[in-house]
This record gives sequence, C-alpha cells and structure tokens, in this order.
Amino acid sequence: MPAVIVLGAQWGDEGKGKATDQIGHLTNYVVKFNGGNNAGHTVVIDDEKYALHLLPAGILSRGVTPIIGNGVVVDIEVLFQEIEEMTARGVDCSKLKISSNAHIIPSYNRFIDQANEKARGHNLIGTTGRGIGPTYADKMNRIGIRIQDLFAPETLAEKVALALAPKNEIFQAVGMDTLDAAEVTQELLSYAERIRPMVSDVSLEVNNALDRGETVLFEGGQATMLDIDHGTYPFVTSSNPTAGGALTGSGVGPTRIDRVVGVAKAYTTRVGEGPFPTELTDEVGEELRTKGGEFGVTTGRPRRTGWFDAVIVRYATRVNGLTDICLTKLDVLSGYKSIPLCVAYEVDGVRTEDMPLDQGAFERAIPIYEEMPGWDDDISQCRSFDELPENAQAYVTRLEEISRCRIQSIGVGPGREATIVRYPLLGE
Ligand code: GDP
Ligand code: IMO
Ligand code: MG
Repeated sequence: MPAVIVLGAQWGDEGKGKATDQIGHLTNYVVKFNGGNNAGHTVVIDDEKYALHLLPAGILSRGVTPIIGNGVVVDIEVLFQEIEEMTARGVDCSKLKISSNAHIIPSYNRFIDQANEKARGHNLIGTTGRGIGPTYADKMNRIGIRIQDLFAPETLAEKVALALAPKNEIFQAVGMDTLDAAEVTQELLSYAERIRPMVSDVSLEVNNALDRGETVLFEGGQATMLDIDHGTYPFVTSSNPTAGGALTGSGVGPTRIDRVVGVAKAYTTRVGEGPFPTELTDEVGEELRTKGGEFGVTTGRPRRTGWFDAVIVRYATRVNGLTDICLTKLDVLSGYKSIPLCVAYEVDGVRTEDMPLDQGAFERAIPIYEEMPGWDDDISQCRSFDELPENAQAYVTRLEEISRCRIQSIGVGPGREATIVRYPLLGE
C-alpha cells in the first residue's frame, strides 16, 4: 500500500501526530500538505514529548524524508526555530524538503490576522493568530509570496510592496504600526541561502518515489470540520484539510492513493469558536477536559469537550472517502458508568442522520444520544482488542458501525506503544 493520507475526522487535535508517527516508520516519505504553524502535533516516544507545528511529525521516524508540500503556508522564522529546537533534541532534520511553490507567511499577515479578529468583535473565529487565513487569502488573491520568490530579490521587493500597501492602510485605520516594504523584503531575503538547499519540486519527487514503489504518507493538519469548503464555515481554517487537499497540496493524483485514514477521538473536542452540538459546558465537560488533558498544543487554550458525535464522523467518512479510522484516547473514557453516543440530530423537530449543510440548521441541531454502558478498568496496558473490557469492545464496535468505517487501531495512551492495532495498514 504505497500512498496513505492521514487526516483529522473531527475538529482537530485527534492525535494525528501519534498516528503519523506510528504509520510513519513504515514509510519512506511524510508529506505535510496543508495549514502551517496553526497545527500542533504531539508525539510521545519513551516519555519524551515532541510538539511539531510546521515540521511533519514524520520527521521523528528514522529514514523518513520529511516534506513540506505546496499547500502549506510557511512562517520561515518559525521553520528555522523549529528545526533548531528539534536538531538540539537529536532529531535529524537534514533531509527536509520544501516545495518551491509553498506560500510564505510574511510578518504583516500575522498582524492582519490579529486585526481581523479584533474587527470581528464578538463574531471572532478564535484563530491561532499565526497569519494563516490572510496568507491563504493573499494566495487566492494572487498577491502571495512564494518560497521561489526568495531567489529573485527585485521581484520579491515588488511583490511585497504590492501586497503590503492595502495592509498598511488597515493598520493605520485600526491604530497599529505600519510596516516598511523594504524591511520586510530584507527580512525575507535573510533566509534565502539557508532555505535554498531544501527547495524541491515536491510533485516530481513524490510521484517518482511512488513510481519506484516507495511508500508515502500525507499528513494533514487541522481537520474535516475545519475545512474551508466542508467545515463549519466561517468557523474554519483557510485550507482544505480533507483528502482532496492532500492531492492539490502536494501535486499527486487521486489514482495514486491507496488508503485514507481518518483520526478520530473516542469523544469530541474543539478549540476556538463555532457550533459544536455535543459540547458539554458543565462539570462533566470540565472533567473530560481534565481527564483527557485537553489544552491546545499551539496556543495553550483549553479545548471545548463533548461526547462522540457520529454524525460528523460519518460525514468525514463520506467527504474524505475514508478507508480506515484510527480511534484515539479510548483510555480517557474509563470510569464512566455509561457513555452517551450521539447517533443523529434533531433539527426543527425532524430527525436527521446526515450533517445539515445549512449552518443555521447545524447550530440548532440537538444531539440524539444512545447510552452505552461504561467500564471501570484501566485499559492503558491493553495491546489487543480481546484484552479490552467487554463494554469497551462494544463501544468501539458500535462506533465503527455508526461511523460507517472500520476502526483500524485504538489508542489507549499517548505513548508510541500505547495502541491496539486491529490489522496492519501497511504490509508488516
Ligand atoms: P493532533 O493535532 O491531531 O496531532 O493532536 P494533538 O497532539 O494536538 O492532541 C492529541 C493529544 O492526545 C496529544 O497530547 C497526544 O499525546 C494525546 N494522545 C494521542 N493519542 C492518545 C491516546 O490514545 N490516549 C491518550 N490518553 N492520549 C493520546
Ligand atoms: P491540529 O493540526 C485544532 C482552529 C482555530 C480556529 C480555526 C481557525 O493540531 O489539529 P486558523 O489559525 O487556522 O485560521 O484558525 O481553526 N484550528 C485548530 N484547531 N487543531 C488545529 O490543528 C487547528 N488549527 C486551527 O482554533 O478555531
Ligand atoms: Mg493539535
């Protein structure tokens, strides 16, 4: 199985980092295809915790060539900070490649992100403030700055001046400091020679690797429900974290993909604003947050928590064409007498099994729950499905049924080893 997409099936932070790490050691390449340093992917190896933002989590697997695809937006300062930090911890970053077509997050877009949020007042999105949205907006508006522009200083200066002019007007209007185009250009150029050896034609590289029979994992940032097209717009990120994004974000065709793996938590979390039907705003939600350690890796914000929502995971199965689900954090659900499972919604008095496309309807959706009996045992040492308590097995089997996708693995702890693999994803 040479090409595997790993993506988020809910609202992010499902455990894509750990899933990538687990599958990653069986692959030759790991390609990050969307988003930027809004992501925070955690991998725990021998009690050592690594938080990856811009670098693919696959960088932690020996022998893997990590790649940043054209669909990613790159804050170059953050990239080099992360490379330095990881190198100091003994991680080999020397093989990192980056697409010449990837867009750069210039400093002004971080400030625009913050100004936009301020201007939205109580309608704010709760972005990570990393300049992600404004950089994708520039890309669509055809005034973006790309990695390849670093090697043409005169054109770069012109492009920066063009993109910055309207932004300076906004800064002035909201009382923020304006920026000097020449200074921004110089700052970007200061990274050119360091980045030059990493620059690559990612589409060519990845397709050649697939032609040679090598294995490639496409690592998604964010998640299906944060997708600019398929998520809870406008409370979304500005990229396509869904399966199609893996293709456009790396220059690979759909016929090359063998597996699409959705990572889903055994419950649900969300960071930032926007509708969340199964959210628990009471002490039960607080307890789930504490038990699951649900605090953002990137911004440190407490994550909103709720029960498993099969409507959205079924939706993720559909829009991504999932072949497998990696279910994570089942261990966090130990100790509940019974566990509510959202199987459908009631919208304006009508039961619906499908995700309502109308945002107003989604906001009014009332979850319809099924109660599943819980289990008390600590399951963190279980390494096979049969070792799980019967009620935990029944919970997983029911999730599988209502998510309409088979569950390939079950996470029972943050560590690399704390996983029940039900069948191999790649030829082991
Ligand atoms: P990502 O953004 O999808 O990579 O996920 P994050 O790293 O933001 O958040 C997932 C958190 O859950 C991290 O702290 C992981 O170490 C942790 N984690 C992943 N899988 C499991 C699991 O099966 N059990 C437990 N208890 N923690 C897990
Ligand atoms: P990983 O890859 C969870 C959320 C933000 C905000 C919205 C838009 O770790 O799962 P942005 O800065 O992207 O414009 O913010 O998207 N968000 C995430 N939530 N996990 C992430 O990444 C996220 N990346 C962005 O909180 O609501
Ligand atoms: Mg995360």
